[in-house]
Amino acid sequence: MAIEQAGTPRRVLIVSSHPLFGKGIQRLLQARLAPGSSVVGMVSTVEEAVSAINSANPDLVIVDYDDDRVNRDEFLARFVETARQLRVVLLSLKEGGSQAIVYDRRTLAAAQIDDWLAEWSFNNQSGRSAKKLIGMPISGLRSSNMKHFIVVMLVIAALFALLLVGLEQVRLLPVAASAQSIVIDQLFQLHFIMIIFLFSLIVGIMIYSLVVFRRRKGDLTDGPHIEGNTTLEIAWTIVPLLVVLAVSFIGSRVLAQVNQVDPKPLYVNVIARQWSWTFEYPEEGITTDTLVLPVDRQVVLRMRSEDVIHSFWVPEFRVKQDVLPGDLVRELRINPNRTGEYKVRCAEMCGTQHAFMEQAVQVVSQADYTSWVTENSVASDDPVARGQQTAQNIGCMACHSVDGTTVVGPTWQGLFMSEVPLEDGSTVTADEAYLEESIREPQLKIHDGFQNVMPRLADNMTDEQIQDIIEFIKSLQ
Ligand code: CUA
Repeated sequence: MAIEQAGTPRRVLIVSSHPLFGKGIQRLLQARLAPGSSVVGMVSTVEEAVSAINSANPDLVIVDYDDDRVNRDEFLARFVETARQLRVVLLSLKEGGSQAIVYDRRTLAAAQIDDWLAEWSFNNQSGRSAKKLIGMPISGLRSSNMKHFIVVMLVIAALFALLLVGLEQVRLLPVAASAQSIVIDQLFQLHFIMIIFLFSLIVGIMIYSLVVFRRRKGDLTDGPHIEGNTTLEIAWTIVPLLVVLAVSFIGSRVLAQVNQVDPKPLYVNVIARQWSWTFEYPEEGITTDTLVLPVDRQVVLRMRSEDVIHSFWVPEFRVKQDVLPGDLVRELRINPNRTGEYKVRCAEMCGTQHAFMEQAVQVVSQADYTSWVTENSVASDDPVARGQQTAQNIGCMACHSVDGTTVVGPTWQGLFMSEVPLEDGSTVTADEAYLEESIREPQLKIHDGFQNVMPRLADNMTDEQIQDIIEFIKSLQ
């Protein structure tokens, strides 16, 4: 039993009507208290204690817990009338042979005494002895600890199994449609299992503790003081370290597999802008707003942005790549392995229409791909049809509707030869000259009620393409 840590010299007052108690305590103190400590008094009644506190000025008071003549409540109520802080120890030498049992040990200020007394009084009323609440025989602890351990392990195992089965039922990931998604999904699976285990471990122990070790009515004691556990601390440092190293090793292998280069890929240029995608097939001479890919052939997407940062993401392919403005062409390799219709979504906040920056992706058989290429590489000789195609491909339709609805910019329906209100209150007739000027220099005459957010797409267009688009707008009456 350590009554006090060595270090500070103490002035000790012993309160007991039994002389043997005082002697026993003195013997214990000699071995444990710092040099310079002294027993400043041994008193046997409350009255003597009060006057000794005033005259001898102790800073540690040891009270005989088993002595009926030194009533705890009365004793404390009196002696704490001083404003000083006293270390108070309630001690029993009766039980446990030569052992001393400390029932309560704390430093009290005058203001805390009421609480302290109430706590002890309550225990007396309810008929429970203070010992039951505070002391616990060491021998009983082992077997009950083992019981707790086994039960909490069962709780964790049950929680883990339940979540594992539950998660199997809920399909968290969309359909997997690329060779890359196979290894990525395996990695996801591994992480899900580890997360479920950690969740079960933490929540299992927490729920068990909340229920089993909850505070019972009338129990105002502090929890036992635990100094630490070196074995446990080493374990919870080494184990996560090994897990993180293992995961990073597996992760780097998956990354290598995802970036695997096939010998004869298909190249597609991807141009992103606020708020549409354009896909160019340089070898096939096709520009389109729908990404059409042959199944089981690697495609290399070479991506750039005309304005801000966007992000190319088809969830079914799992991989994702930021698309940057300037000359920073980013590459993304995908091996689509499942025919179907998907969507490319922009996964980087890029302005007001970001949420709607999605376009169709089709994975088709090699035969369908070949016929699609044949169809689309033939140029139409109808300027309206060409204009419609160009307008779609370069992204006009992301902001201009052809059915009268307002998206970001004014609708094209009925636009030709209409009177367009301008911000300064004047109007302008939307003739061919105005349409061409607005395509080439969008900022010059802004339609009233709209913001100037239109990019200078004309910089990348031929004169013929601009004329085609004007023909297409003229057709929308
Ligand atoms: Cu482009 Cu978000």
